[in-house]
Amino acid sequence: FASGPLSGKHIIVTSGPTHEPIDPVRYIANRSSGAQGTAIAQALVALGAQVTFVTGPASVPPPTGVTLVKVETAQQMKDAVMAALPAQSAVFAAAVADWRVANAGTQKIKKTAGGLPALEFAENPDILATVSSLDAAMRPALVVGFAAETQDVTELAREKRARKGCDWIVANDVSDGTGIMGGTENAVTLITAKGAEDWPRMAKAAVAQRLAQRMAEALG
Ligand code: C5P
Repeated sequence: FASGPLSGKHIIVTSGPTHEPIDPVRYIANRSSGAQGTAIAQALVALGAQVTFVTGPASVPPPTGVTLVKVETAQQMKDAVMAALPAQSAVFAAAVADWRVANAGTQKIKKTAGGLPALEFAENPDILATVSSLDAAMRPALVVGFAAETQDVTELAREKRARKGCDWIVANDVSDGTGIMGGTENAVTLITAKGAEDWPRMAKAAVAQRLAQRMAEALG
């Protein structure tokens, strides 16, 4: 057993993008690197937590000392999170695709003289909202979501906290020019039941350490 304030606590962390197949060789993705989720998992491990790290295809190496579960799609990520429960806490740092391709090909889609392919979309499950609304027996005591916004960050994050039913939201401004998306620094606002706290801009690793510390205090 690792020692530290989170010793004996199981925490699930989701991270990275998801890939949603169009056919066996093509997919839809997003620009998430997995950097912030990886840093959070590493900071939780450093405080002694037993971490299940459920990650989409990230561009940074995974943290060490975790139970690593690699997935590709949102549906697979949801299944992996549900299978990893119960947990004392869960942090949803993944950039989950909102939609998957409903008419994905089982064979490679070919160019034809007949015209262009048409993609149809279906909504993906919201993993954060699903876990937040579980019965008390299965719901982690501290559910943490993220909100990446380009305007009215605090207000939209407060609304998101209520809508998703999670305990905390880590909100950040990813508008053009902040250099946050894909960068090494982050400037976040932590939204809890008590209100909003603006944290100064700092390295993603420092945001992760501060968040892990706060989680340790909250989980007692
Ligand atoms: O609604 P939005 O995607 O902005 O919410 C972001 C938060 O919800 C993040 O914590 C993200 O990991 C989580 N999320 C999820 N499943 C989805 C979509 C978002 O867990 N399908």
